[in-house]
Amino acid sequence: MKVLIVGSGGREHAIAAGVAKSPKVDKIYCAPGNAGIGQIAECVPIGAMEFDKIVDFAKEQAVDLTIVGMDDPLVGGLVDEMEAAGLKVFGPRKNAAILEGSKAFSKDLMKKYNIPTAAYENFDDPAKALEYLENAKMPVVLKADGLALGKGVLICQDLEEAKEGVKTIMEDKKFGEAGNRMVVEEFMTGREVSVLSFVDGKTIKIMSSAQDHKRALDGDRGLNTGGMGTFSPSPFYTKEVDEFCRKHIYQATVDAMAAEGRPFKGVIFFGLMLTENGPRVLEYNARFGDPEAQVVLPRMKNDMIEVVEACIDGTLDRIDLQFEDNAAVCVVLASEGYPVSYEKGFPIRGLEKFDDVEGYYCFHAGTKQTEQGIVTSGGRVLGVTAKGADLKEARANAYRATEWIDFDNKYMRSDIGKAIDEA
Ligand code: AMP
Ligand code: GLY
Repeated sequence: MKVLIVGSGGREHAIAAGVAKSPKVDKIYCAPGNAGIGQIAECVPIGAMEFDKIVDFAKEQAVDLTIVGMDDPLVGGLVDEMEAAGLKVFGPRKNAAILEGSKAFSKDLMKKYNIPTAAYENFDDPAKALEYLENAKMPVVLKADGLALGKGVLICQDLEEAKEGVKTIMEDKKFGEAGNRMVVEEFMTGREVSVLSFVDGKTIKIMSSAQDHKRALDGDRGLNTGGMGTFSPSPFYTKEVDEFCRKHIYQATVDAMAAEGRPFKGVIFFGLMLTENGPRVLEYNARFGDPEAQVVLPRMKNDMIEVVEACIDGTLDRIDLQFEDNAAVCVVLASEGYPVSYEKGFPIRGLEKFDDVEGYYCFHAGTKQTEQGIVTSGGRVLGVTAKGADLKEARANAYRATEWIDFDNKYMRSDIGKAIDEA
């Protein structure tokens, strides 16, 4: 069969690598893809938001299955348009992707269905928000309602910062339309865990847990980024945590979406915080995490296509989802200066060292094929990933492999997975 993947980051490279392992697959396309994806798929110069072109391409090439990796096209309704054209596609429809697309929606859903999350209020009027904040407990969390590249969350230590935050989100519109509405949320503390799942509208199957490192600098300092590295599984995701989430969060979310007439098919990503009072949902995403996919998918034993098709067909209950009993660590190699400003276009050396080395992967995020070879073309450039028998071995392997790669302005965190030592 022919498979089309929509997106261009490390996550889509990890999805493509998973798809490529399936004996059912003869040909992979990626729109728009990147230089690494181009080694296993045919990249087509169509942007992820060019819905008409994607539909036309899928029809012309008789694509059998499309997998949408990114949030923007999902929230924008690409799945609906492809389905309307009679195409088979993996991902939530627009009315279900709102689980990620609107934080106000997801908070109201959790409240209505008693899914544990931080206390909150939604506002569409900055004056009302300011009035509420006068008496709110500090620190407090402000979240732009819509998609903001993971940057629309402000943690405010006092009233002054909170007032500034309301201005940033709702008046200056730093995150654009995403700030037309805003959630004001109780500040929680605890460890964060990412849990990805496959969902077919009614059944949910949980993947192995992971942990991201969102800040740019060692010691979780510096600005928020798209993610500087991950490990899987999380040693903090214990059996007790898993039992609690299965009882109160996972199926409850799927059932709530179905009850609202918004059946969810695709991947639900649960961003959890393990608080003193038990696990709480920080956020939902309607897709694989990036760079969570890079450590979770290489450990999945199932044929990716079988699982994806079961989600579409509503037969996920028949799938026995299995993960290898090992660990993986992904260290992101970024361009110095990310996430603020950085240079691009530097040649990348050493990529061939990953060819045919079992258990090591170099997922491309911001790279471009040029006549001079592959060059850097983004803030996050590569996700160097390695497996190991346990987390410590995987971390040592991943950091060793980061030395195989060289490019000007190469930057990485040196403490990805440090939390493992505390487990
Ligand atoms: P989100 O996009 O909602 O996951 O928020 C981004 C990051 O902000 C999370 O990964 C947390 O580190 C932090 N955060 C979000 N909500 C809260 C909260 N209620 N309390 C403390 N930290 C939070
Ligand atoms: N790694 C967090 C995300 O994909 O949103």
